[in-house]
Amino acid sequence: MTFVPTAAASLLAVTLVFAFLTRKRRRNALPLPPGPRPLPFIGNALDMPSKEMRTAFKEMNQKYGDIVYLDALGQPMIIVGSHEVAVDLLEKRSSNYSDRAPSAMIDMHVFLLPHRFGWAFTVHRYGQEWRRNRRAMHQYFNANAVAQYAASQKLEAHRLARRMIDDPEHFRQHIRRFFGSSALRISHGIEVDDDPVDYLKIAEEAMDIFSTAFEPGKHLVEVLPWLARMPSWFPGAGVKRDGEVWRPIVYKMVSVPWDAAMENMRRGTAVPSMVKGLMERMREDDGPDEEEVIKNASAVTFAGGSDTTFSTMQTFFMAMTMYPEVQRKAQDELMAVVGPHRLPDKDDEPSLPYIQAITKECIRWRSVVPLSVPHRSLEDDEYKGYFIPKGSIIITNISAFSHDPRIYPNPDPFSPERFLKDGEIDPTVQDPAAIAFGYGRRVCPGKHFAETSLFIVIATVLHTLSVSPVVGPDGQPIMPSGEMTHGLLSSVPFCGHR
Ligand SMILES: *[C@@H]1O[C@H](CO)[C@@H](O)[C@H](O)[C@H]1NC(C)=O
Ligand SMILES: *[C@@H]1O[C@H](CO)[C@@H](O)[C@H](O)[C@H]1NC(C)=O
Ligand SMILES: *[C@@H]1O[C@H](CO)[C@@H](O)[C@H](O)[C@H]1NC(C)=O
Repeated sequence: MTFVPTAAASLLAVTLVFAFLTRKRRRNALPLPPGPRPLPFIGNALDMPSKEMRTAFKEMNQKYGDIVYLDALGQPMIIVGSHEVAVDLLEKRSSNYSDRAPSAMIDMHVFLLPHRFGWAFTVHRYGQEWRRNRRAMHQYFNANAVAQYAASQKLEAHRLARRMIDDPEHFRQHIRRFFGSSALRISHGIEVDDDPVDYLKIAEEAMDIFSTAFEPGKHLVEVLPWLARMPSWFPGAGVKRDGEVWRPIVYKMVSVPWDAAMENMRRGTAVPSMVKGLMERMREDDGPDEEEVIKNASAVTFAGGSDTTFSTMQTFFMAMTMYPEVQRKAQDELMAVVGPHRLPDKDDEPSLPYIQAITKECIRWRSVVPLSVPHRSLEDDEYKGYFIPKGSIIITNISAFSHDPRIYPNPDPFSPERFLKDGEIDPTVQDPAAIAFGYGRRVCPGKHFAETSLFIVIATVLHTLSVSPVVGPDGQPIMPSGEMTHGLLSSVPFCGHR
């Protein structure tokens, strides 16, 4: 009797040998966290979500638990399934978990040319350069610094109310204007209203690209880093072509406001701003590229301030059309506390718990950055008896945490009541801002500013207007679906722009 190995049998043999070798390589005796079984050579690349990206991580967490291990072509990934695990790793052990993935999109040579995404330290590796950028921003956006913007936010809120009343059709533009002009005034000292340059359009175009480019797993190139080295005509290398088109658009967002701010400083007409303050405080010993740090950090401020809070506001409008009773309660509270003769402001916040609760619920209900921006670990680590290899990409599904029934029972409806107890904010309920703005040292530096701005805008809108659904040609209201778009930054498709 002879034994003729079939193709299947030899494949099996190769598989077994390879699986054995991979196992051998691991230095640590601890097991890796559970997860989909790796296939030889390509690891879990076939499990890597591309089309099924939208739910893949959630399903893995449901199947394997709150800490899942995935191997994407040798790139270890940890899929975190709960807020608690995220806090344990990214916050309590933040010194070892604050790196960023060296994204193929950034490493790709198209972005290594001068006009790349390098300025966006949100995606920088953890280290000196990132820390300097971060410090520059922190000076302007810590909880105390934010208080000094109250007057400018109030002014902006009054303008917003006027525009909304005069021209409610274009409410989206008005809201975008509120955030964009607040951000640009603080970052570069530029008054959008007095300037012929359409800074807000520049920001909008760049942020659309940013969101598309960094949607985790969207581009094959994230999984197959070597694709980045392929010529543009190579199948699947389309992303490189995209990069070439995107680069100048994105760079405009860095250079146009910067050049204007520099010009104002030269002419002596610059008003106080982050750029002006940091430039004036620049010292000899700051190093030759300090100016570049300031340039980059102010661009990030402008970018971050213009887009993300804006998306949360779209959530707000969606919620108000879907939950008219919430809107009525909010308006009753505003009428009782603020009265009909003035607009609400920051000082009213403690006496407006229902508005505070709506703001929190907007932050919780739909995540602006649903999958966050992944962290990366810097050292081998062990957690709950599992081995977490150095260089693991840590995926946190922010939407999943803020819809986790263990934290927020009955998570799907929009319900500000979940944050209230006896008419006050209930401090025992998890603050969604601790989830939505990211974790540890990578927490969004604009967090306080964003929360304050959202509160002011929500209070102003509800005190001056009622939000109702668009009425269709048949006379019936068109209700939003409650769905969001699926880029890195999420927004409400019915609101149009993405
Ligand atoms: C993240 O969590 C949300 C909410 O549970 C879920 O709808 C979504 O599919 C998850 N995303 C991924 C990529 O698993
Ligand atoms: C980071 O990793 C190193 C090396 O494994 C370890 O000595 C250190 O305690 C870790 N730090 C934290 C905060 O976990
Ligand atoms: C600032 O951004 C540029 C790209 O525009 C990049 O080359 C540079 O490394 C960044 N500099 C700092 C100090 O972050």
